[in-house]
Amino acid sequence: MLRLDKLVKTYKTGDQALKAVELDIPNGQVLALIGPSGAGKSTLIRCINRLVEPTSGEVWLGDTELTRLSPSRLRRERRRMGMIFQEYALVERLTVMENVLSGRLGYVGFWQSLTRRFPQKDVDEAFRLLDRVGLLHMADKRADELSGGQRQRVGICRALIQDPAVLLVDEPTASLDPKTSRQIMRLICELCAERGLAAIINIHDVALAQMFVQRVIGLRLGAVVYDGPPDGLTPDKLTEIYGEEDWEATIDKVDDEDEEAEAIA
Ligand SMILES: Nc1ncnc2c1ncn2[C@@H]1O[C@H](COP(=O)(O)OP(=O)(O)O)[C@@H](O)[C@H]1O
Ligand SMILES: [Mg+2]
Repeated sequence: MLRLDKLVKTYKTGDQALKAVELDIPNGQVLALIGPSGAGKSTLIRCINRLVEPTSGEVWLGDTELTRLSPSRLRRERRRMGMIFQEYALVERLTVMENVLSGRLGYVGFWQSLTRRFPQKDVDEAFRLLDRVGLLHMADKRADELSGGQRQRVGICRALIQDPAVLLVDEPTASLDPKTSRQIMRLICELCAERGLAAIINIHDVALAQMFVQRVIGLRLGAVVYDGPPDGLTPDKLTEIYGEEDWEATIDKVDDEDEEAEAIA
């Protein structure tokens, strides 16, 4: 349903961030994109919604080739791609409710967006989503009063209220403590399952990726070097993706944290 065909990105600086990446993501599939800093994870998801323009190759969302669209068609298609960011990207001085509703800006008219008068059905949906992520009581709070985990929950609601076909998630937990990170990863994966949503989750924390997804893509220097289930990530494979490190310790840690995750759930 989302397909990348020979996707290449070479930045003006000459950095080859993506080297002919091929990737097929069926409807409803959640995958983790892992790899060291600089591997091309952010570039890959940004080339999908063309926040970064690919140098060559194709990106298909269903029957639409995103890489060919005019700016106005692209604006419309971007509604189908919800994005969640590491630093949340909330408007600090607006309320939680206003931040969630800003996810509808791609749908409402210009004047409506200026006055921020949203249809009642959007407001109702925003309340439903806030309730689902446990933030109903915070709807009127300003974004700058929230903790990191709460901010990311708002970011999740803002992406979901777009009613997207796919979620593009860039390091959602990199600014959070370990326990909150697990809660946020679990929440994103549960919501995708509930809604049959596909997602690409960029995450450098291997253990966290392994806990929650069925498919892992390993990226190294802009090329896919692993595509398979989390338990196929042997120390050799991890070394291929990340370079030399003692992976036995990380793999043991995954087993421990699995038990801990079950205890929290
Ligand atoms: N705006 C940019 N201009 C030039 N080079 C960039 C830019 N953004 C990223 N790069 C380069 O592209 C490569 C991949 O970066 P990035 O996609 O940010 O990787 P990751 O998200 O995995 O850390 C790196 O070599 C990085 O330096
Ligand atoms: Mg990145």
